[in-house]
Amino acid sequence: MPPAPHSSSGSPTHPALTQSRAPYAEALEHAADRNSLFLSTPGHGGTSEGISAGQAEFFGEHTLSLDIPPLFDGIDLGSHTPKDEALRLAAEAWGARRTWFLTNGSSQGNRMAALAVGTLGSGVVTQRSAHSSFVDGIVLAGLNPGFVYPNVDEVNGIAHGVTPDSLRRAIRSHPEPVTAVYLVTPSYFGAVADVESLAEVAHSAGAALIIDAAWGAHFGFHPDLPASPVTQGADIVIMSTHKLAGSLTQSALLHLGDTEFADRLEPALARAFMMTASTSENAHLMASIDLARRELMTSTEAITDSLENIRQVRAQIEATDRYHLLSGEFLGHADVVDIDPFRLPIDITATGLDGHTVRKRLAEEFDIFPEMSTATTLVALIGIGKSPDIGRLIEALETLRLETAAQETTDAGSAAGDALPSLPMAGRLAMTPREAYFADSELVTAAEAVGRVSVSSLAAYPPGIPNVLPGEEITAETIGFLQAVAASPSGHVRGAVDPALETYRVVRN
Ligand SMILES: Cc1ncc(COP(=O)(O)O)c(C=O)c1O
Repeated sequence: MPPAPHSSSGSPTHPALTQSRAPYAEALEHAADRNSLFLSTPGHGGTSEGISAGQAEFFGEHTLSLDIPPLFDGIDLGSHTPKDEALRLAAEAWGARRTWFLTNGSSQGNRMAALAVGTLGSGVVTQRSAHSSFVDGIVLAGLNPGFVYPNVDEVNGIAHGVTPDSLRRAIRSHPEPVTAVYLVTPSYFGAVADVESLAEVAHSAGAALIIDAAWGAHFGFHPDLPASPVTQGADIVIMSTHKLAGSLTQSALLHLGDTEFADRLEPALARAFMMTASTSENAHLMASIDLARRELMTSTEAITDSLENIRQVRAQIEATDRYHLLSGEFLGHADVVDIDPFRLPIDITATGLDGHTVRKRLAEEFDIFPEMSTATTLVALIGIGKSPDIGRLIEALETLRLETAAQETTDAGSAAGDALPSLPMAGRLAMTPREAYFADSELVTAAEAVGRVSVSSLAAYPPGIPNVLPGEEITAETIGFLQAVAASPSGHVRGAVDPALETYRVVRN
């Protein structure tokens, strides 16, 4: 594994600027502590007066006073600002040439990445299990996508990553020159792909590599964690610091790697940032990223303790002999070179129930909220430094198992819910996603939709893999799958016209 990307020596031009500082958060606090007369936005003015009383009571007056808008003297106005320093520290921490703070999640980062690589050309190879925000980026940027399919564990309905060989084949079979590749690693289930080899394949074909590492912002901060993809040759890396790196929800990062594409991508990313960011970016979110980076860089001991804790949690689950973790099996797949220990994909088939029903009942009856479910699996994640009572989850699973077994005896039948059908293959791409998105459209019934070209992007959650892209023909198999997910206890389909998937928006013939 390559060395952790960080050094805590600070910048030579700013000797005091070390990784134990959080310059943006510090500047914000300083501004909030002054007795200033604010005659500007935000209207709450950082006080509990007037209609802000409810805000102050709910969030606390200090939280309000930190809500300082952009372009503020001493924080981010002008050059060499505390915000610039915070961005530089973040770039150094993750091993990037340049880093952007994002206040609209990795979703913003994916749209930025698509817009930026659009300046290289329109041919892009995309992992089919792309996050829907990258599909939106394809539409925005007018890209022409080809697909590389991830390895799929059919039994558990889990999509992993892609191998260098399958990427090479997908690049070769794309009808136009491929100028960028978009891949996701780690997966939703914690499987880590071989970024170094994938970068070699992309670069030798003349394509830039975007890594959607939304789930991997903590990688590279401990020798026992996978390396940061930024240090493994990726050109653009997107990370949701809010997912596992401890910052507030919606805060994220986009990194530009120090690669052969950096000179061309940097100005394109700067423009894409302007196009996707609010002009009133939220200060709490940016301070939260600054603080998360400081913690990751200075808390090696806490991460070590957390890793030890997670080993024990894993052992506790395995010791049940009923609810084993699938992570070990992942390493048998050709596309998986490592796993994220903080993700726990737990096989819950021993309960006699499907994963979606288990997840719903855990929430309703036991006040327990795992991250997601598949037909056979619950995925839990444990934030760094957290020590949740995993015994409580195991006990709840046991209660469900015993209840199901008793019911089966009474009913003389199976209480297990119906597993979802397996992921359908994509329909033919009849026009580019952008052409379809802007085409004249009409609403048709499910029966009429078969063979028609979709205007919408439809992604069944969980796990959120786009099943239909704008421009693709809708198949009967896909409609069956989407309707089954929509009817399952915790499923919904993003982009659907109606919740039961009875109608579809298609290109008018
Ligand atoms: C692979 C992947 N990329 C991007 C995103 C979007 O991240 P965010 O919620 O930070 O916008 C997600 C969200 O779950 C994701 O799973």
